[in-house]
Order: sequence, then structure tokens, then C-alpha cells
Amino acid sequence: DKGVYPYYMLKEVDEQAIVARTLSQHYFDDDNQIQNIDPAIIEAIQSADRLYIVAAGTSYHAGLVGKRYFEQWTGKPTEVHISSEFAYDQPLLSDKPFFIFLSQSGETADSREVLDNVIKQGFGSLTIANVMNSTLTREADFALPLLAGPEIAVASTKAYTAQIIVEAILAHAAGNSTLDLKHELAKVAVEMQVIIDQKEVFKTIAESALRDRRSAFYIGRGLDAAVAVEAALKLKEISYVQTEGFAAGELKHGTISLIEEGTPVFALLTQTKTAGLVRGEIAQVTARGANAVIISSKALAKAGDAYVLPEVNELLMPLLTVIPAQLIAYYATLDRGLDVDRPRNLAKSVTVQ
Ligand code: F6R
Repeated sequence: DKGVYPYYMLKEVDEQAIVARTLSQHYFDDDNQIQNIDPAIIEAIQSADRLYIVAAGTSYHAGLVGKRYFEQWTGKPTEVHISSEFAYDQPLLSDKPFFIFLSQSGETADSREVLDNVIKQGFGSLTIANVMNSTLTREADFALPLLAGPEIAVASTKAYTAQIIVEAILAHAAGNSTLDLKHELAKVAVEMQVIIDQKEVFKTIAESALRDRRSAFYIGRGLDAAVAVEAALKLKEISYVQTEGFAAGELKHGTISLIEEGTPVFALLTQTKTAGLVRGEIAQVTARGANAVIISSKALAKAGDAYVLPEVNELLMPLLTVIPAQLIAYYATLDRGLDVDRPRNLAKSVTVQ
């Protein structure tokens, strides 16, 4: 039930702080210890020599973020793969691979095809999904829930942030991070709500930057590049504004020729190490006429940035950065008079290959 909301997507964006709290309560006990994760899952990750995250669409994008957690906290090389590619073009695997499937629905045919192949080859697997008792959760060796509640809008929002949170918790549980993750996630939930409560800002940004525009860009480096591809998918799939999301450093290798007078370029700037470089890339597109819309974190903000994100641990910033992108996509679509929840040509769950 949409309740007071005009669209499910807006309701689901709004629910993200609650989902963050629910996940924290589910996976941490009162003494900050991990609970509700089968020790055999931790054991399987620790004894693997490489992790393979396999997923499609938005879930794949959540994998691009999770890769950083598994690599930083467990020290395991982690590859992220698109299921439709992996299924028919399996890369050379390591000696002891462990597979992590990410899925909202648990029914995505491309991912099911990969899981079938993985099982046939005798490798271990875990599915992290929102719909439990789905094909992917039943057929993998292990399953962990996203606890995001039903996601009805075709554009995935709360499942993405839930996937990132569960990946963080799992990598933390299997690794040696010294982060007080439970405390950090509590901060994330508070700051998510701060952004959600300022949603009118993103309506203004969407209307001024995207009205009558046919194309747009999202750029960033590192974790911001991972969020940029998700941000671009959100915007293009519901508003039909053709949007490219990619690593900011790649602009100069070709794409910058697409920049015209007024082209909206959303720049995500939350990573200290590369902030200076991204500022330079913003200057280059601006010099070619782009309308740069900068979404930065507090510590890296400069006068003129369109929106300054509250601050949490830098590794967890994607959980905040994606929310403006979700809301910009929502309001741009609304502004075009389109059905936010049901974009043309798309189904919620893609059960064909
Ligand atoms: C985009 C979107 C899709 C799904 C993809 C995978 O907003 O929803 O890209 O993420 O079809 O679906 P699941 O996660 O159900 O496997």
C-alpha cells in the first residue's frame, strides 16, 4: 500500500533509514557482536582464496561497492560480474572460489543460470536477497535476508542500500576491520533521514538541470564511480534521459566530446584521495559548457556545490550519495509526467535470459 505516497518509489526511498536500522538490529546483538549469520558462511569466506560477486543491474552496482569492503576487511581479492556475461563467458577461476549472489527478487534468470553452473562445478555459494524462499536463496548453499520489505517500484532503491549494508556487515564479520560498524551504521541511518527530509532540494535540482534535456552524465572516482553507474541507471531507466555514469578520469579518453552547452554533469565527490582530481575534471567539463551539479561531502565541499552531504565513514558514503541520485531521478521523471513506478519496457523481476 502506497499510503500517502503518490508513488511506491518515493515511499521506498523514504524507508531506507528504517531498513538500515532494521539490518543493524538483525545482524548485531546488544554487545556489538554479529548474530544471525551462520558461522559456516564466515568460514566459507575465510577459507576461499577469492570472492566472486555475481548479479544484474542495480544489484550488480551494489556489488561494485561491496567489493571494496570484502577486499579491505577480509583481504580477499573480490571480482564483481554481470550474471548474463558470466553465464556464457566464465572467466578463469581461482583454486578456491566462493560465490556471492546479490538479488532483490531472488528470481533473476541470468543469475540463476550462473548459480546452476556454479553448483554443477561444486563451488560454494551464498545468496543475499530481499525475497527469501526464492529460487536463488533456496538453491545456494547459504542465504541472508535484506529485510527491506516489499519493493514494488521497478526502479530499485532500498534493496540497493540494503545490499551494501549486508555486504559491509558480512565483510566486517569475516574480516578484521577495526571499525565500530554498528555505531557507523547508526550514524548512516540518521544522516540518510537528514537527506530524505531535504527532498525538495532535489526537486529543484532535477527541474533546473534536467528539464528539456536529452542526455546527462554522472561522474566520480573510486566509490563515487561505483555510485555514478547506479545513479545513471536510476535516472535513465525512469526518466528516459540518456545518462552515462562512469569514472571521472575516463572523460578525457573520449566521452568529453559529448559535452555541449548546458549538458548536465552530476559530479559525486566524497572520496578524499581523489577529490582534487575530480575538481579538475569538473573544471574541464565546465570549460566546455557543461552545467556541473556537484554533490560533495562536508569535508570536501566548496562554495557553489549544489548539495553538501552529511558525513559518515568514507567507505560508507555510497549509502548517502545514492539518495540524491534516486530523488533527482524521481523528480525528473515526475516533471516529465511519466509513471515513476512503471517505466516502459521493464518488468520488476527479469525471469527470462
Ligand atoms: C534497476 C533494477 C534492475 C534490477 C535487476 C536485478 O532499478 O531494478 O536493474 O536490479 O534486474 O534484479 P534482482 O536484484 O531482482 O536480481
